[in-house]
Amino acid sequence: MRNISLHCLAGPLKGQVFRLTGGPVFIFGRYAKSTFSLAADPAASHLHFLVDISEDRVRIVDLGSTNGLVINDRHVSGKQGPPTREFVTLKSGDTILAGASLFRLAVVDDSSEFDTVHADAIRPEILPRPEPGKVIAEIHSDADATLPAVPRVSSVTEYYHEQPRQEDGLPAIDGYTLLEKIAVGGKGIVFKAIKDDSGAATAIKMLNFQRHGKHRSIEMFRREINITKQLQHNHIIRYLGDGVSAGQPYLAIEYVDGGSMDELIASSPGSRLDMPQAVPLFLQLLEAVGHMHSLSLVHRDIKPKNILLDLRRGGGLAVKLSDMGLSCRFSSPDTGEFLPIVTEGGTPAYMPPEQLTDLTRALPDSDVFSAAATFYHMVTGELPYEFKDGDQSETILEGKIRRIGEVRPDLPGRVADVITKALSYAPESRYANALEMLSAFRSALAQ
Ligand SMILES: Nc1ncnc2c1ncn2[C@@H]1O[C@H](COP(=O)(O)OP(=O)(O)O)[C@@H](O)[C@H]1O
Ligand SMILES: [Mg+2]
Repeated sequence: MRNISLHCLAGPLKGQVFRLTGGPVFIFGRYAKSTFSLAADPAASHLHFLVDISEDRVRIVDLGSTNGLVINDRHVSGKQGPPTREFVTLKSGDTILAGASLFRLAVVDDSSEFDTVHADAIRPEILPRPEPGKVIAEIHSDADATLPAVPRVSSVTEYYHEQPRQEDGLPAIDGYTLLEKIAVGGKGIVFKAIKDDSGAATAIKMLNFQRHGKHRSIEMFRREINITKQLQHNHIIRYLGDGVSAGQPYLAIEYVDGGSMDELIASSPGSRLDMPQAVPLFLQLLEAVGHMHSLSLVHRDIKPKNILLDLRRGGGLAVKLSDMGLSCRFSSPDTGEFLPIVTEGGTPAYMPPEQLTDLTRALPDSDVFSAAATFYHMVTGELPYEFKDGDQSETILEGKIRRIGEVRPDLPGRVADVITKALSYAPESRYANALEMLSAFRSALAQ
């Protein structure tokens, strides 16, 4: 039998021993419901790190802490640190600096005695001694450092407990008054709220743990938050804030009251839009997606449901592209990271074939396809794929798409050509990105 323990050698928790029995997962942080509280250490984060002792090894991962982890003198994570955080396998004797607390891991293979730890055996000069609350080291950041650096931990979700409630039963979030639940989406729960300081109408998005606690990890949500934060564009939903409330991360964005594009399509005569209504909205969509592409970001989930509409004074509508839940940086097939494709209601109707076959591929030409599929739906009231009963994936993989010009022969031929090209089976045959498509679409309209 193994006894595994973390001994605090220095810092505010000096002398404490944390015995890792039970498990397999232990959360360390200032958060009241952590397995082990670091509340006495002001330089520790709410959720600082997790130790996993399954499969005969001891592994550690940062939970998105500010000051990060220093393992055996090597700074492995932190808000300013390396952009990706992975589990690090530990061996007995390894030291871990978290906040201002220094720990040493002891793994003892018999049940007799715990390893005796002598604090003096550690030379003090090797220990970074941060001032409480101060970032330990400014690690230079590369271009990706603004992207979330978060752990791949699904079991963390189990540690997110009941949220404190307002009197009306809605979650209580500091700085906001929640008014009502407006949506339970595929991945998140969205509330309408008022931002207390400015009075701004706000949408608060939180993870839907009940439905996706295991599958949709905090990692993805943090990515969504960070990407939303980076985007400032007239036709992209505006970021207002984010935070963690009682262990639950939330994202605050501007509240948009004109419904979504799928509602607009459904409520229009013949369930389709006229060109004069569709064209300006589609141009705005391409501008928004083009903005993301120009920042080396791909959206990966463009569809009418994720296109919100802002009701302008005078009754006009403007596009607000939303839901960056699957967005990420460009990747090449070999560097790509597996991203689950989540479809609401199980209709991958706007998805290009390569998104089904190669889940790590994330390039703008896939967004070009989805944007074109969205336009197709807007003006024809139909989906581009000819889904029959049976397996939709087969239709997608075979690329069975009815040409838009057949469905709406009254469309200007050049506009139809642009959409057809953007819906090409092979990604290389499409426009490379939304800005290229935007300029082709504009010139088609001008003809
Ligand atoms: N900013 C907002 N303003 C108004 N409604 C919103 C806003 N953001 C989301 N919603 C509503 O919540 C739903 C789900 O939001 P979304 O971000 O798409 O979450 P999911 O990741 O679950 O798909 C949207 O379809 C929309 O009805
Ligand atoms: Mg959505």
